[in-house]
Amino acid sequence: MGIEMCGIVGITGTKQAVSVLINGLERLEYRGYDSAGIYVNDQTGQDYLVKRAGRIANLKSALTPEIQGSAGIGHTRWATHGVPNEINAHPQYSADERFYLVHNGVIENFEQLKQEYLADVKFQSQTDTEVVVQLIDRFVVDYEMDTKSAFLKVLHLISDDSSYAFVLMDRQTPDTLYVSKNKSPLLVGVGDGFNMVASDAVAMLKETHNFMEIEDREVVIVKPSGVVIRDFDGNEMKRDTFRVDMDASAADKGTYPFYMLKEVDEQPVVMRKLVQEYLDTDGSPVIEPELLSRMQQADKLYVVGAGTSYHAGLIGARLFERLTGIPTQVFISSEFAYEQPIMSKKPFFIFLTQSGETADSREVLVNVKKQGWPTLTITNVPKSTLSREATFTLLLHAGPEIAVASTKAYTAQVALQAILAKGLGMAMRKQLAIDFDVKQQLGLVAVGMQAIVDSKDQLESVAARYLAQPRNAFYIGRGIDWSVALESALKLKEISYVQAEGFASGELKHGTIALIEDKTPVIGIITQDRTAGLTRSNLQEVVSRGASVLTIASKHLAQPDDTIVLPDVDELLTPLLSVVPAQLLAYYTSLGKGLDVDKPRNLAKSVTVQ
Ligand code: G6P
Repeated sequence: MGIEMCGIVGITGTKQAVSVLINGLERLEYRGYDSAGIYVNDQTGQDYLVKRAGRIANLKSALTPEIQGSAGIGHTRWATHGVPNEINAHPQYSADERFYLVHNGVIENFEQLKQEYLADVKFQSQTDTEVVVQLIDRFVVDYEMDTKSAFLKVLHLISDDSSYAFVLMDRQTPDTLYVSKNKSPLLVGVGDGFNMVASDAVAMLKETHNFMEIEDREVVIVKPSGVVIRDFDGNEMKRDTFRVDMDASAADKGTYPFYMLKEVDEQPVVMRKLVQEYLDTDGSPVIEPELLSRMQQADKLYVVGAGTSYHAGLIGARLFERLTGIPTQVFISSEFAYEQPIMSKKPFFIFLTQSGETADSREVLVNVKKQGWPTLTITNVPKSTLSREATFTLLLHAGPEIAVASTKAYTAQVALQAILAKGLGMAMRKQLAIDFDVKQQLGLVAVGMQAIVDSKDQLESVAARYLAQPRNAFYIGRGIDWSVALESALKLKEISYVQAEGFASGELKHGTIALIEDKTPVIGIITQDRTAGLTRSNLQEVVSRGASVLTIASKHLAQPDDTIVLPDVDELLTPLLSVVPAQLLAYYTSLGKGLDVDKPRNLAKSVTVQ
């Protein structure tokens, strides 16, 4: 079956393709890491195909010095169907070994194409991609079409509900990359003497800072000397380049053992960056007036996201309701997509997505747009699919987040929603919003975050003492502390494989308390005046059942034996601090178990399948 998620990189021109491809694939490993491959051609008739199951490191160790070329394609895969083995890895190729193809996405009608055109062909892999590459070959060899026409013909035969990003190479035109996409991310990198294509700009930043978008259902011919984009009817499309000024080293680990730790540490800087980007000197939000006016007209805000972004939305909803008075509801995107609730008369949609590519969230966006409602995407990735397709975009400015477990994108999403809620509330003349000094508070948050990340040693020993052994753990809290409990438990699950749950602390006693055994860790989050006492009582209930209780408490609510004491900030913004120890507890638990913190099993950073 299909290869639904992966990273693609391709290059043609004056560079040594192998090192560019490997470097690019390493940057894309967050998109999938269960098999990888490259195909390179040296333009004198020599070419090489190397594929391996497992991480890119396996592929790298299979490379020998004679494997060289100036054009090539590479792929790293995260399989959801079909075994992640060498045969199913990409590039896939035609039986005559003339065509090589890398693919991200799912070709929904591949069985039908196979039966109709390729009934006599013996396939070696289980992939839909092999069907596509064999079909291109068939049209070229048996029907005597040129490669470009054959490629276009196959693109026409692929059903509209399919998704793909394709990069094809032909041994007979070895300096040319044949490229097309539908619903899967892919963009062109423009260089001096070379050109590239990849699923994400980070894979090309070492080589170039100039990029060109590819729209769905276009055919792009990439050669060393230039890039030509046409629509499916053959009309040439003019496309400007855009510059991404991010430093390639922003996507480097530097001296950190894992990206996650680097990204946790970057959070104070990200807070300051958001202040700089979105608040003027007197602390007023600088937000497009048109966005504020469209939001002001709404009778209800709908916040949509998946995973960590959904959890950030839970906090955002409280911020919007408190500071603007507009009712706000949060939805898991994969739920909303299939069961749209009865809508208010004037909805406004906010999509939270670090990557801007999550298929579940995009599905909702597409449906909502069809119904004519205004949309905002809050994302970390400029020009990402959800950013391009929404009415408005606000960028998180968090820098590339590479570790699968999201950290700085979560806190950036919470902080940016606070800024937006403040801006909207001010525009609506809400006193609470006017009084809420978000600039000063985010300054305090940055200092507070720094203090927490500086106390890593303490968190490492807490993790070793309480979380190394148990199978289960609970985070509990009320209100926004509960929302943070959900995110904290997700962090622990994702990277340490401890079965963790985030629970409304008052609800635990209504059933789930049965799971508490001797030494089950229960971590209480206590940052809100109104609920602190109640959560402490709930912790007492589990202490008497043998739980090992830990606490993360704001300073003004702290008691002498609290485990972690957080600096005080406005109650609306405590999630920005309380989540940080939870991120680090998850990190050290994973590290202590010797796991790959950045690349946990079964997960991928950007899930482009529904
Ligand atoms: C994947 C990742 C999660 C992430 C979620 C939503 O499942 O593993 O860490 O929270 O996708 O991603 P998004 O890019 O839309 O925020």
